[in-house]
Order: sequence, then structure tokens, then C-alpha cells
Amino acid sequence: MANNLLKGKKGIVFGALNDMSIAWKVAQRAHEEGAEFVLTNAPIAMRMGEINKLAEACGNVPVIPADATSMEDIENLFDKTMEHFGGKIDFILHSIGMSPNVRKGKHYTETNYDFYHKTMDISAMSLHRVLKVAYEKDAINDWGSVIALTYIAAQRVFPDYNDMADAKALLESISRSFGYHYGVKKKVRINTISQSPVMTTAGSGVKGFDEFLAYANDMSPLGNADADACANYVLSMFSDYTRYVTMQNLFHDGGFSNVGVSEGVIDKFKQ
Ligand SMILES: NC(=O)c1ccc[n+]([C@@H]2O[C@H](COP(=O)([O-])OP(=O)(O)OC[C@H]3O[C@@H](n4cnc5c(N)ncnc54)[C@H](O)[C@@H]3O)[C@@H](O)[C@H]2O)c1
Repeated sequence: MANNLLKGKKGIVFGALNDMSIAWKVAQRAHEEGAEFVLTNAPIAMRMGEINKLAEACGNVPVIPADATSMEDIENLFDKTMEHFGGKIDFILHSIGMSPNVRKGKHYTETNYDFYHKTMDISAMSLHRVLKVAYEKDAINDWGSVIALTYIAAQRVFPDYNDMADAKALLESISRSFGYHYGVKKKVRINTISQSPVMTTAGSGVKGFDEFLAYANDMSPLGNADADACANYVLSMFSDYTRYVTMQNLFHDGGFSNVGVSEGVIDKFKQ
């Protein structure tokens, strides 16, 4: 169902790796809703060429490689994007996460600090970098909207989420802090969406993810929100209907975050 919700809006979508990626769904839906955008991902993530299929399906949109840890790459991305559109943009999706500690199976208590730095740099500081470049280049129109995806492990302990929990806490804090400054200067709004677990490449890296997905589903009155539903929520946040929402961490989790225990979970403990 398309309503031209984003007609006339231009943006950048980070993080579409394959058709399971949340960013992939956001790009597809944004295209359906009339938005124009540039796709980007780390050069190494583009080796499989999957992203080109998405670019084609979205009307041959440009694909501009950028490692989110490289200031040079992010500056180049914004220069090329503004050149392509002949001006400013209206929305950005930050859908980036990676932890070498998770990848290499390093337990939280035995973290490797070089890896830990990388986790923070890729998964959290990258948002600051993107916002700083946008701010300095005055790349976002007034009332523009930036969304970064996060997870409730920033507030509560999920042991196997490892150092990504720390990265998400930082990501959410950056969104609030930059949201203040960008709001005052340009009325640009910045929010994080805290999404239900979804089976994606990043998600499946977390130990015991299948069981965890089932647990979250049982604990959520509405069930887990899937990637398509997440995409719809992101689009609503890019639209003009949410202009006064900023500096928030918005739970999109079927109610999970406000449930202590569910009847379904209690039943599993009945002898
Ligand atoms: N899948 C879930 O259960 C879930 C739940 C809540 C939040 N999230 C968040 O959603 C976002 C998207 O993840 P996803 O689940 O769609 O998985 P995904 O693996 O499809 O996406 C992660 C993306 O990060 C990109 N990336 C990694 N290193 C990068 C770098 N140096 N520079 C630029 N890009 C880089 C990857 O190439 C990939 O496209 C992440 O922030 C993730 O933490 C996911």
C-alpha cells in the first residue's frame, strides 16, 4: 500500500547488505512511497554485488561506497549525494552494526579492546561522524529526519549481545546529544528506533538467536515486529507527520519493553 508519503523527499540509506537487511526493506518501501535516495555500504560489503540489484529495483539509484569509520569516505558520500540531487537531502537511515568481539566469540568479560574500539567506531561513533559531516556541509533541509536502529540491550542486560549493548547505549546518547544541537540550529530531528529481534546477517551473529527470537515473541503482546513493519515505522519518522519527534529512543517491539513476564513464558515453567 503506497500513499506517496515521501514524495519529493531525498535521502541516504546506509546498511542494505542483502534482502534480509532492515535497510533493504526501508529502501524498497521508501521507493514505493516516492522518495529518491542514494544507497551506501562499506566497500567490503559490496563485494557480493547484492546492493546493485536493490539499486536497480529502486529506479537505478546511485550506490556510493563508504566505510562508516572513514571521515574521508563519509565526506565523499555527502559531496556525491548533494551533487547527484543538486542540493540538500531530507532523511538518513543509519542501519550499521558490527562487533568483532561477537564475530570472534570473545566473551564480554574477556573483551579484546582493539575489537571493542572497532565495535564502538562502526556501530556508534559512525552516527556522530555522519551527523558531523552533514552539519558542517549543511546537507540536511530544515525539518529533515535522521533515524538510527538500536536494540533494548542498551537498557537491559542480554548477556550474549556482548559489547554491542555498550555500542547501542552510546548510539542512543549520540542521537540525543546531536539531536539537541541539530534541532536548535536547523530543526533537524534525530531519533533511534529500538527494534524487535529480526533474523538478518547482523542478528544471526548473536549466540542463541533463534531461541531468543522465540522468547521475545512470547514476551511481546503483539509478537515481534518484523523488518517490513520496521521499514514502515522508519518511513513514518521520515515523513512530515512526525515533525516534533526528536531526541527519542522509540520502541518498535510489539510491547516487549513494557512486559515483565508473559503468560506464555510462565506456562513454560509449569511442572
Ligand atoms: N536484526 C536485529 O535483530 C536487530 C534488532 C535491533 C536493531 N538492529 C540493528 O539494525 C541495524 C541493521 O542491522 P540488520 O539486522 O539489518 O543486519 P545487516 O547485517 O543486514 O546490516 C548491518 C549493516 O552494517 C553494515 N556495516 C558493517 N560495518 C560497516 C562499516 N564499517 N561501514 C558501513 N557499513 C557497515 C553491513 O555491511 C550491513 O549492511 C544494525 O544497527 C542492528 O544493530 C538489528
